[in-house]
Amino acid sequence: MTDPKVLLKITNLTVHYGAIQALRGISFEVREGEIITLIGSNGAGKTTTLHAISNIIRKTAGSVVFDTMDISALPPDRIVAAGLVQVPEGRRIFANLSVKDNLEMGAYLRKDKLAGDMEMVYGLFPRLKERRLQVSGTLSGGEQQMLAMGRALMSKPRLLLLDEPSMGLAPILVDEIFSIIRRISENGTTILLVEQNAFKALGLASRGYILETGQVIKTGPAKDLMKDDAVKKAYLGG
Ligand SMILES: Nc1ncnc2c1ncn2[C@@H]1O[C@H](COP(=O)(O)OP(=O)(O)O)[C@@H](O)[C@H]1O
Ligand SMILES: [Mg+2]
Repeated sequence: MTDPKVLLKITNLTVHYGAIQALRGISFEVREGEIITLIGSNGAGKTTTLHAISNIIRKTAGSVVFDTMDISALPPDRIVAAGLVQVPEGRRIFANLSVKDNLEMGAYLRKDKLAGDMEMVYGLFPRLKERRLQVSGTLSGGEQQMLAMGRALMSKPRLLLLDEPSMGLAPILVDEIFSIIRRISENGTTILLVEQNAFKALGLASRGYILETGQVIKTGPAKDLMKDDAVKKAYLGG
């Protein structure tokens, strides 16, 4: 069997914030249909990596190829339109808008009919359907995460970038969010999952990359990383 094709290829990604080098030449790839996880503690460079891919911060060097297109210099809205969509850390929903209006905003680049996709999102997140007319700022943290993911799905991504979806959520909600991520993957969307929760992320992903101070220090099948002594010690509580 041949491997699925490479959907995202990152080569030598390098980012500076002023004099500080946040990414030191990161390379990795995501194949079609995979769930890949990028694991690292606070400040490792996870969010910077996603922002560099989405081209919302400036790269010092490196390239990002999505499918067959070099998107390194493409404007962020064109990247979304091409099918690469980021769910930001901290959710960033429109707090004053209803759930339904937030979901519609996710489709602002589309010109086709939305109704079917709205139902698809409500099917994945029945709680959002119940609360579709509620002002989003009054949703719980877990519901806001669901809304941020639902909004991203409204733009029909081929590749979804998730930035710490479990952050600040109670364990039972973390389980719920992770099982929904699995369903999104089963529905055909490729996923790049950034997490501090290494245990949960490696449980879901096929492969992982460990990021430390802006460098990939280890990579491999998720089940091998789970058994790796250094990974266990640093990220899985011994
Ligand atoms: N806007 C910024 N200006 C200056 N330094 C930043 C900025 N954003 C992030 N950094 C620094 O870059 C490094 C990586 O940050 P970040 O990508 O947010 O890490 P993570 O998402 O893994 O927690 C950290 O040292 C952080 O302090
Ligand atoms: Mg971050």
